[in-house]
Amino acid sequence: MNQRNNHRLVLFPLPFQGHINPMLQLGQILHARGFSITILHTNFNAPDPSSHPHFVFRSIVSDLDRSEVPISDIPGLISLLNTRCASPFEEHLREMMLLPGGDAVPITCVISDSLFSFTCGVAERLKVRALTLRTGGATSLHVYTILPVLKEKGYFSIDGSRSEEAVKEFPPLLVRDIPGFDLQKPEMTLQLFDNMVKVIKSSPGVIFNTFEELEHPALTSVREVLPVPDFVIGPFPKCCVTSSSSSLLAEDRSCISWLDKQPLKSVIYVSFGSVAVVSEAEILEIALGLADSEQPFLWVVRPRSVRDPEWLQKSPSHFLEALERRGKMVKWAPQMEVLAHPAVGAFWTHNGWNSTLESISEGVPMLCMPCFADQGVNARYVSDVWRVGLHLNGGLERENIARAIKRLLVEREGEEIRERALVLKEKANASVRLGGSSYQALDALISHILSFE
Ligand code: UDX
Repeated sequence: MNQRNNHRLVLFPLPFQGHINPMLQLGQILHARGFSITILHTNFNAPDPSSHPHFVFRSIVSDLDRSEVPISDIPGLISLLNTRCASPFEEHLREMMLLPGGDAVPITCVISDSLFSFTCGVAERLKVRALTLRTGGATSLHVYTILPVLKEKGYFSIDGSRSEEAVKEFPPLLVRDIPGFDLQKPEMTLQLFDNMVKVIKSSPGVIFNTFEELEHPALTSVREVLPVPDFVIGPFPKCCVTSSSSSLLAEDRSCISWLDKQPLKSVIYVSFGSVAVVSEAEILEIALGLADSEQPFLWVVRPRSVRDPEWLQKSPSHFLEALERRGKMVKWAPQMEVLAHPAVGAFWTHNGWNSTLESISEGVPMLCMPCFADQGVNARYVSDVWRVGLHLNGGLERENIARAIKRLLVEREGEEIRERALVLKEKANASVRLGGSSYQALDALISHILSFE
């Protein structure tokens, strides 16, 4: 254990898996550099303290009833969390500052998710500094900063036939890559992104889970519009000394022993993150595409991620035979371990930012199937800019899926993509090594925090 300094950081994650993971990884990184860490979290989607015995956990009651807003309505849930959490957050922070108690080390700084819009105001009132964590990429943040312009230009709620058109203000994006372009009422979503941009702009510093060599052009643009100190210190999983899990669901480790038995780089790993839900028709195409690909597959099917819970029993025998012969299905996987496994040859992903960065960090080529929010931007950059994956452009049809999997895993094109992915992986490794861009930015972050005394 490193020597402790006399500084406590209070970390406040947004209570969704894709936001809890990077915040707790950040906690591990800063803990390894001597800080004491308190995770202040909502009782909704609370993380498991036993996985992080070196942190102090404090729960605030967010007063959120799961029946109030459908779990798939993420913008609705985030808005509600912003309304419900402000007072309890302030009470807890005040209490922690007045009565350190178990948290005997004094609080130097708060770090909260940039989708929480109230934390900086509360911190200012209580005279403590509050940095903000942007859990997603810099490129999607750049897109968020120009969403009002894109709305002005009429890119929202437009006729679906225009979704394949190029966005001339932001090449190489297509209209369908714009976050929320397909929403009938995009106002709430646009408001959330706008609030996030404002939060970052008014903060004493923003931390990014990305690396300079990956997103330099976007970071340059973001720095122009959001001129605050920034600390680009990712990929977080690469900087963590320990790899404690922050999963809200139990990880099924039987997939690792299954992977041990598969040929090198042969498996397509399939996971669409912690939020996306697929219809009965879509799951059938996915299943049959996997069967027709003739490749081994490891597929994460989260509970309640398919609209029809009976879908498996109704699946055609063609898929069930393929599943038995060369497939494995789990409810939740230890994803980072899976991506690092030598048997995994490609990752069919929804391109949530964590999944995208984890895949890049392990040099695994991606098959991109974005669902919502930043995912369209991430996927377009994976396929067209970084060129470390294929976009499932042709739609979710079994022939198209099987064809794309073969292109990635069997054909020469896939080998070239893997070569580029390995180059990017090495850049990620270099960024976190002594003297690398993220390593230096972490040192700068620590000096910045210590200057708050
Ligand atoms: C959400 C949004 O959908 C995404 O667009 C945004 O960038 C972050 O918040 P989510 O959909 O859950 O996130 O995707 P992602 O960002 O990829 O995060 C999922 C996390 O869960 C990853 O860290 C991944 O490693 C982990 N995971 C996923 C597992 O540990 N096991 C699994 O079986 C699946």
